[in-house]
Amino acid sequence: MDGMGRFDICAALKAEDRAWLSDVKERLDAKMRYGVEKARGKDYIPYSTENGDWKPTQIGWWTNGFWPASMWQMYLMTGDSLYRDEAVRAEGMLDAALRNFKALDHDVGFMWLIQSGVRFALEGNADSYDRTLFAATTLASRFNPHGFIRAWDGAGREGWAIVDCMMNLPILYWASETTGDPRYRQIAMRHADTTMEYFVRPDGSCNHIVIFDSETGAFLDNPGGQGYERGSSWSRGQSWALYGFTLSYLHTGEARYLDTAKKVANYFISQTADDWIPRCDFRQPEEPPVRDNAAGNIAASGLLELARALLESEGKPYFDAGLRILRAQERECANWALDDPAIFTQCTAAWHEPAGRHITMTYADYFFIEAAGKLLGEKLLFWYPNRDA
Ligand code: GLY
Repeated sequence: MDGMGRFDICAALKAEDRAWLSDVKERLDAKMRYGVEKARGKDYIPYSTENGDWKPTQIGWWTNGFWPASMWQMYLMTGDSLYRDEAVRAEGMLDAALRNFKALDHDVGFMWLIQSGVRFALEGNADSYDRTLFAATTLASRFNPHGFIRAWDGAGREGWAIVDCMMNLPILYWASETTGDPRYRQIAMRHADTTMEYFVRPDGSCNHIVIFDSETGAFLDNPGGQGYERGSSWSRGQSWALYGFTLSYLHTGEARYLDTAKKVANYFISQTADDWIPRCDFRQPEEPPVRDNAAGNIAASGLLELARALLESEGKPYFDAGLRILRAQERECANWALDDPAIFTQCTAAWHEPAGRHITMTYADYFFIEAAGKLLGEKLLFWYPNRDA
């Protein structure tokens, strides 16, 4: 080995990690099969659970792509068409949200790229292509020419941008790559550059929200958002940035995005290394000890992706941290019993919503499955489904 190839996350696994992964694969199959049984006949898409069953959600809820995306991950991991059929069922249900497009916000990448975009890559389904392109076009329509994508609707929020949007940019890159029209990519890169400038702080921590004057583009404010307070460090926002900048690098090849991903990753690792289970906000008080497994699993999958984007000589610290987070969270916070269809039990929606602390969330489970899939050798990156196509 000359240190000049890309870091190979599968080759770096030790025998005990491989044994763990083989166990995880079996547990995932049993648990997700149970989740599908519980979802059957329901007229909504799973997001969270209560009393051992899925809890109803609105069809336009931003997380609704993660359930079918988990199904595609499980289909690739097991080859069982049960998972494919459930993914296709959920994709059809999501058409109601696409039709009601005026109610959509910036989260359409989460909703369509990782399931319709993936189905198009796997099966060439023309309707799935149209859904993904339609979603990308609604996201492009949210661009403010001062250099940011508007996050949410509602009067007074015309100039609001949020760090989470970094994970929605891949649907724009996808649209440019599949149509040949550079405008989607240009919008994505303008937004990524604004995020680098206004969200990422010198120590690698990030703001959640930045508010701009929507007429002039002037910076107005940076409230704490779903984190503890202004200037604090909401861990899920950090994980969206870590993974999102890695993906912008993969789609564009621009070194500044890779450098930013590393900077945010270094900060994330430094804040998590005590027990490898992120708190909801890295600057929250000691008590109560609120955790967020979603932040952990997003960051872990992002760290593995970052590791394999790097040279052999550079990837190991990111690989080690990603694997440690996955193993610690699985050991301490996963519920594999067939008494509830969700896996991770300590996810937190927002610091200032006590009822949303230590709940289950399908996207925490999704990112665990995605990360496990990568370690088991899956090559299809759901955030770049057209790669190598
Ligand atoms: N994208 C919203 C959240 O992470 O809660």
